[in-house]
Amino acid sequence: MMYEVVIPAAGQGKRMKAGVNKQLIELQNEPLIVHTLKVFENDEWCRGIIVVINEAERTQFEQLFSRFHIKKITAIVSGGKERQHSVYNGLKAVKNGDIVLIHDGARPFVTIEHIHELVKEAKEHGAAIPAVRVKDTIKKARDQFVEETVERSSLWAVQTPQAFHVSLVLRAHEQAQKDGYIGTDDASLVERIGGKVKIVEGDYRNIKLTTPDDLLFAEAILSSWVIS
Ligand code: CTP
Ligand code: MG
Repeated sequence: MMYEVVIPAAGQGKRMKAGVNKQLIELQNEPLIVHTLKVFENDEWCRGIIVVINEAERTQFEQLFSRFHIKKITAIVSGGKERQHSVYNGLKAVKNGDIVLIHDGARPFVTIEHIHELVKEAKEHGAAIPAVRVKDTIKKARDQFVEETVERSSLWAVQTPQAFHVSLVLRAHEQAQKDGYIGTDDASLVERIGGKVKIVEGDYRNIKLTTPDDLLFAEAILSSWVIS
């Protein structure tokens, strides 16, 4: 079962406060984006990688791809203002219209096993997303006073890669664009045009590196993999 993957990497990484795009931060001597790309480079189901970058960083990224022997890249496209715009630009470069995955450049610990489960479920249901059960109690608040304690058993924290039939996710993005709607993930765009989205139980280690603390977790996860 084959797929293409769109990897948005055109953000600024403001919350990481690293002074550079966080995708370029090194973890055990390799830039974050290279860790992410290698997962797909090594997955035989992946037939093409579309990377979305900030045009000002194109040369830097191209040099990394050749230095770390990432050979499956089929397009390097320019990002947009919001992540959703970047993803849409990437989707327009998809060639082999069956299944497409959308995966954050800043989420390096996804496993091939997990990817395959998502591809199979997306093939069957149209859309499949990885998510983990929420561990903390979640409260809804206004002006820092609690309004409501939300029933936890129905809550999931959603990750990427999110997997879709190409035609479905393209239609969802086009509709969102038309309506001027910005969602916080790609599945939400599919939901709003009536698409069913299957949840695949994910892995708590599939973190997105967002704030400086996440670098500590990332080093710990990388070390644990060498041991096991
Ligand atoms: N992204 C993108 N284009 C944008 C914004 C984000 O391609 N206009 C990418 C990021 O590079 C990242 C992924 O989308 O890999 C998830 O976004 P996020 O974690 O929010 O990264 P940043 O937007 O870079 O970080 P911040 O929000 O802290 O500035
Ligand atoms: Mg962001």
